[in-house]
Amino acid sequence: MKSHSEQNLSPKDRLAVALDVPDAKAALDLVDRLEGTCRWLKVGMELYYAAGNALVHDLRNLGYSIFLDLKLHDIPNTVAGAVRSATTAGAELLTVHGCGGGAMLRAAAQAAEAPRSPKLIAVTVLTSMDAAELASVGVSDTPAEQALRLARLAKASGMNGMVCSAEEVYALRQEVGPDATLVVPGIRPSGSSVDDQRRVATPGSAIAQGASLLVVGRPITRAAEPATAVDAILREIQAACETIGS
Ligand code: C5P
Repeated sequence: MKSHSEQNLSPKDRLAVALDVPDAKAALDLVDRLEGTCRWLKVGMELYYAAGNALVHDLRNLGYSIFLDLKLHDIPNTVAGAVRSATTAGAELLTVHGCGGGAMLRAAAQAAEAPRSPKLIAVTVLTSMDAAELASVGVSDTPAEQALRLARLAKASGMNGMVCSAEEVYALRQEVGPDATLVVPGIRPSGSSVDDQRRVATPGSAIAQGASLLVVGRPITRAAEPATAVDAILREIQAACETIGS
């Protein structure tokens, strides 16, 4: 199933490079080394807590689209306030935790009705978690079952999309329909290190299963030549898009 909004997207629209670095200088150095090969940059907690909205503004001024991965998870009133604060950063995507529950997600969605708000993406099950990790926090369902449950809740609560692993993305696409933005981390080009991720897939397979946007960190940021690593992933995305006709 192919989204209207995904048709005619270029490979660059479907890759976000995770800037998991400790400060603004390291981020800007890394961006330099990316040599303009990508369009989306993901700013997560490590960098945002250090460099804040000032860096997000700088990256936007360089022409990048910003995916602010703050994984908000708190009481509804606090999360709504955080969505309003994040809106001033100028990010295009912002994550909240699906397991925060329907009231929290609805409060976030309502706060994001303001002009220039980011699209809200609900994290389902972290890609670093397997069934044993889920069981350790009291969830006896499989990661796939839990991801589907949280995706349904997120959709019903007004989220624009979900984060899931490549293992669940096909089932989630069937469930939430063509227009949801399905963001997939845990991407590993063949031959690269899995690191702490558990549920991983290659870029081509994640796209073929229905992913909208791939998140890739260490395979790019730890490469000797990050721009070359991006180019290789973009080629793989392009090939997958041609195969599935999107
Ligand atoms: O280095 P690597 O490619 O594993 O980075 C994956 C990125 O995706 C990290 O920034 C991580 O925070 C993020 N992420 C994830 N699993 C989720 C949501 C986001 O790995 N469910």
